[in-house]
Amino acid sequence: MTESYTVTVEPLGSEISCRADQTILDACLREGIWLPHACTHGTCGTCKAEILDGEADLGDASPYALLESERDEGAALICVATPRSDLVIEGEVDVEDGIEIHPVRDYAGTLEVLEDVAPGVRRLVIALDTPMAFNAGQYVQLTLPGGGTRPYSIASPPSQADRIELQVKRTDGGAATAGWIFAGLAVGDRIAVAGPYGRFCFNPAREEPVLLLGTGTGLAPLAAIVRTILDLEEQQGWERPVVLYHGTSTVEGLYDRAWYEELAETRDWFDYRPAVSQEDCGGRRGRVPALMAADFPRASGHVAYVCGSPAMVEDTMKALMKARLFPRYIYREDFFDAADRASGANVVRSPLIRR
Ligand SMILES: Cc1cc2nc3c(=O)[nH]c(=O)nc-3n(C[C@H](O)[C@H](O)[C@H](O)COP(=O)(O)OP(=O)(O)OC[C@H]3O[C@@H](n4cnc5c(N)ncnc54)[C@H](O)[C@@H]3O)c2cc1C
Ligand code: FES
Repeated sequence: MTESYTVTVEPLGSEISCRADQTILDACLREGIWLPHACTHGTCGTCKAEILDGEADLGDASPYALLESERDEGAALICVATPRSDLVIEGEVDVEDGIEIHPVRDYAGTLEVLEDVAPGVRRLVIALDTPMAFNAGQYVQLTLPGGGTRPYSIASPPSQADRIELQVKRTDGGAATAGWIFAGLAVGDRIAVAGPYGRFCFNPAREEPVLLLGTGTGLAPLAAIVRTILDLEEQQGWERPVVLYHGTSTVEGLYDRAWYEELAETRDWFDYRPAVSQEDCGGRRGRVPALMAADFPRASGHVAYVCGSPAMVEDTMKALMKARLFPRYIYREDFFDAADRASGANVVRSPLIRR
């Protein structure tokens, strides 16, 4: 049997049990202790914590996200670090008002829908054996048939707890996508899922008008947010303006366009703005940060949710800050992959930015 150790999480003083083969973050999230995290693969640096006492294996932490000097000073990326003795760690335990914590659990499900929605983009619907509670914007980890996991944002709303939708882009040479989701995966297959993860959570308690900015399958968590707002509209009404930008390189990439256009026609509060960079789309041409900057020379007073490749997220962050919308009003989800990890793209620079 694998040995277990006690991890004390300061400043809470909470004690949890963590197996020697389990990451410290995983043990915390399964006990409902909400510590900052984003990629959960040792790439972004969001989960950096101090090991105050005890020994840990630092695991597969990116050298860009955890510098040699930080390792020497006792820091660890707890999404990849495992205990080698009882530990005391200090993390930034902050739960935002209006966000409910849902402990991470393992789930199993059956693939019910697998459809091509745009060139190189597939929609998956997984019927879970048991429902999963989550916040709109969060993600799950899929276990690959050959082992290993990959994170994918949930595109369906929390009200649909037993049937989660994912929207996945094919990556050339990618183990999960080119090697599985776009290769052997078939309707009826069983899939192992863990979740929910992430701090990219829609907060319905916030009262600002909403900007949703995504490129490619960065639309997925934004779709969950729009669908959650529709649930809220039905339950209690909704009037706050919501503007959705979806960036793609070609018109064909604007998957689910008809649905968003119909929504924009039937709801005064909703506006859909496609941002196609390499073709004319019957509207304006350009990238998300540029179109947003033209529309909102002053974005202060809004709350923004930004999701896509690390480069797109970084450019959009800069455009938002130039428009005087500051980090505490911005939530970001960077779709890091193995190539970003190898290049050290976009590790955490400011603890103020909500990832
Ligand atoms: C929080 C989060 C949520 C996400 N949500 C979504 C989502 O909803 N939809 C979506 O489509 N994607 C999402 N992603 C991205 C997704 O998790 C995968 O990274 C992506 O699908 C690629 O996985 P893969 O296994 O196919 O590719 P990988 O096998 O991870 O490889 C990715 C690329 O890196 C290259 N590569 C591999 N190893 C190296 C190396 N050592 N050096 C240089 N290059 C290398 C590969 O050739 C390939 O081109 C999300 C990512 C994060 C962090
Ligand atoms: S969450 Fe640990 S490095 Fe990204």
